[in-house]
Order: sequence, then C-alpha cells, then structure tokens
Amino acid sequence: MANKQNNQTIQSLRGMKDIVNDESKLFTYFVDNACAIAKKYGFSYIETPILEETALFKRSVGESSDIVNKEMYNFVDKGENHVCMRPEGTAGVVRHFVEKKLDRAGGTQRWYYYGPMFRYERPQKGRLREFHQFGCEVFGVDSVIEDANIIMMIKDILDFFGIGFKLQLNSLGDHNCMPQYKESLVEHLNSFKDDLCEDCQKRIETNPIRVLDCKVESCQEKLVDAPKITHNLCEACDTDFEKLKEILDFNGVDYEIDTNLVRGLDYYSKTAFEFVSDEIGAQSAIAGGGRYDRLVEFLGGRPTAGVGFAIGIERLLELVKMKEEREDVVYIGALDEASLNTAIKLAIQKRKTTKTLIEYTPRGFGKHFKLAEKQGANIVALIGEKELTDGTIFVKDIEKREESTIKQEEF
Ligand code: HAM
Repeated sequence: MANKQNNQTIQSLRGMKDIVNDESKLFTYFVDNACAIAKKYGFSYIETPILEETALFKRSVGESSDIVNKEMYNFVDKGENHVCMRPEGTAGVVRHFVEKKLDRAGGTQRWYYYGPMFRYERPQKGRLREFHQFGCEVFGVDSVIEDANIIMMIKDILDFFGIGFKLQLNSLGDHNCMPQYKESLVEHLNSFKDDLCEDCQKRIETNPIRVLDCKVESCQEKLVDAPKITHNLCEACDTDFEKLKEILDFNGVDYEIDTNLVRGLDYYSKTAFEFVSDEIGAQSAIAGGGRYDRLVEFLGGRPTAGVGFAIGIERLLELVKMKEEREDVVYIGALDEASLNTAIKLAIQKRKTTKTLIEYTPRGFGKHFKLAEKQGANIVALIGEKELTDGTIFVKDIEKREESTIKQEEF
C-alpha cells in the first residue's frame, strides 16, 4: 500500500489500537493485580524483546501452525537478519532459559510477563493484530501438581476480577503415546478424507491432531467417531491426567474434558487447557496454556520440564469491572501569590500518600472550588494570608460537606 500524502491524517493500523482513558485505567488495574497474584505464587518478572529471530518461533510454535504459516510479522532487517515481532511470549522466555544455560543449573524458575504480541489475523471483535498477554512460565517441575497450581492461579486471577469462566481440559500425551495415536487418527481421517475441508486435508499430512479443533461444522460432524487421545494415553500420561483431575476436584475447580482441545501451538505435551467465557462472542478463549516438556530441547537445551499459560488482556478487559475503590483526590491551591510556595510544598508532601492536584495560579475560593470539581477532586485544600500566618490550611470535603482549618503538620 502506498504511503499517504503528507497532508492526510494517519490512523492506527488495522487490528491495532491505543489504550487510553477508561480502558487504560482498567488495563493497569488488571496488570497490577495479576502481577501481585503471580508474585504471591513465587513468580518473578521477566521482560524479553519484542523482536526475535524468526527461527525461534518456527522451532517452537511450529512450522505447521497457523501462527507461523500465516500470521507472523516477519521481515529481513537492515543487517539481513530474519526477524519477527513475537506472536506469543513463551518462546522468548524459553530462549532466555536456554541462552543463560539455566537448563544446566537445575532447580526451578518461575517467571511472569506481560506485553504486546503480534499476529497478522483477520481482525474482529476480540481478535486484534496487536494484543496483550499476561503470562507465566515454570521450568524444572515435572510434577502434575504444578499444572494444577498454574490452573488454580488463573482461577485466582479470574476470581479476583469476578469473571465467570469454563475450564476446558485435555491431555495430549507425550512422545511415547502421541505418535501411535496420530497414526490411528490419520488412518481414521483418511477413510473420509475427501469430505474434509481443504485445510484439514492438508493437516492430515502436516499435523493431523489439528483436524480435531477445525472450526468447520461439516468437519466436526465427521469427527464424532474419531479415536480420542485420552483413551490412548500411555500409563505415565494417564496417571498424570487422573492426578490432575483429582487435585482440581479436591479443590473445587470445575472443568470439562474436551478431547478435541489441541491448542494452536505445536509445543504442548500432556496437559492442555483453555479458559473460555460465553460473554464475549466468538473469540471466547480468555486464557490458554499447558505443559511443554520438549520445548527446551527443541530450542537446543537439555531436557527440562515446562508448563505455563497466557491470558489475553483485551478479551479479559471486556469482562473486568473495576472494584469500587473510591480514591481520595486532593486539590491544593493558593488564595494569593504569597501563599503559593507553601501550597506547593504541602502538595508535594501530600502526593506521597494521596493523589494530589496542584493549581499553580492563585485565585479566589469560588474559582478554586469550580476547578477542583471539574478535575474530579473530592477534597479541596486552600491557603491564604491568614492560614500562612497561622501555619494552618483550610480543608473541605466536598462530598461530606465538612470543612475545617487544621494545622499544616496534621494535613
Ligand atoms: P494462545 O492460546 O495462543 O497461547 O494465547 C493466549 C491468549 O491470548 C488467548 O487465550 C487469547 O485470550 C489471547 N489472544 C490470542 N490471540 C489473540 C488475538 N489475535 N487478539 C486478542 N487476543 C488474543 C499462547 O500464546 C501461549 N504462549 C500460552 C502459553 C504460555 N502456553 C504455555 N505458556
């Protein structure tokens, strides 16, 4: 597309938007509280670059995935490097883990992150080209108790914001049982290959389990009798899956088993899950994740267990209502030029504990009150000649209609 002429206004790109006003208030409210919960679960913050080598996503998310095939923002930079704006957060975190040789150090790592992700998808409600995720990744814990821990953490976050959800759960098996399952699935699919959509016909060759979550109705109808992965798990995977369900049951976490849930990224093994909401339209997944015990190896590290999730922040914000926490907003002004310095000094001190607005121009009472109200302050504090001499300040609580003159130290 040609660039616009100089005098034409420029708009944000399709599928990308500014986050501002009420939405940015909700955004920071969500991130602050989600981070606080992650810290309570023992996670520390990691920030990885937005731009990574394209090969990172090819090797992790998978060459056969829609994300890598159709949706990457990739290009060759000025140094001839093949780079890509990250479509998701897990790959970068695993790259860091391997790059820093933490796979050799042993022990456990727990990281959380949030930030923008980029996928060149067809924009629609709940589906953007630049969107934000809040995610967590755990390395070095192969116990399925960690999978339950992760799921309960997401539940804690959603509960905090009062969001209802359905949890869909599946096990994708591992390198022992998945290949055999794939074989029997391919055999089954081939028996009606011509009736499947064009994409699914290709998927039989490239990644047959992706046929299971095809959105085309006629494909889904055909799949009713397809073999189920959960009936074909090896003993270790089956034991883990049973244990996971047991822990969730014990802790009162409701879930439904969805044997067609395969997720759009190729790195999962064993546990895979999605949290969905029926209140936000067709793009109903608000969070997704699972176990990825082979991913560190795929990226050149030593075998290390991994499990994690990401929440789609924009989708979640459709559901978040801020808890009514009325915050005091103090407005400080001077009634004359001579009192201004003291007013500003008091305002700077007050700011340490309370949201405080300073009016720089000395004015009369009435004008200050009008300005304060306009800016949403509920407490007005003013200093004039008398207060300056007495070392006091006039304070009025607009909502309670209470006023008093107090010592500046008490203010
Ligand atoms: P994902 O399911 O691709 O997983 O994305 C996680 C969440 O990001 C989705 O449930 C959805 O809420 C949101 N999301 C995805 N695409 C879009 C979009 N185009 N517009 C708006 N929101 C979107 C992952 O990305 C994995 N890295 C999760 C993970 C972490 N697994 C293990 N660790």
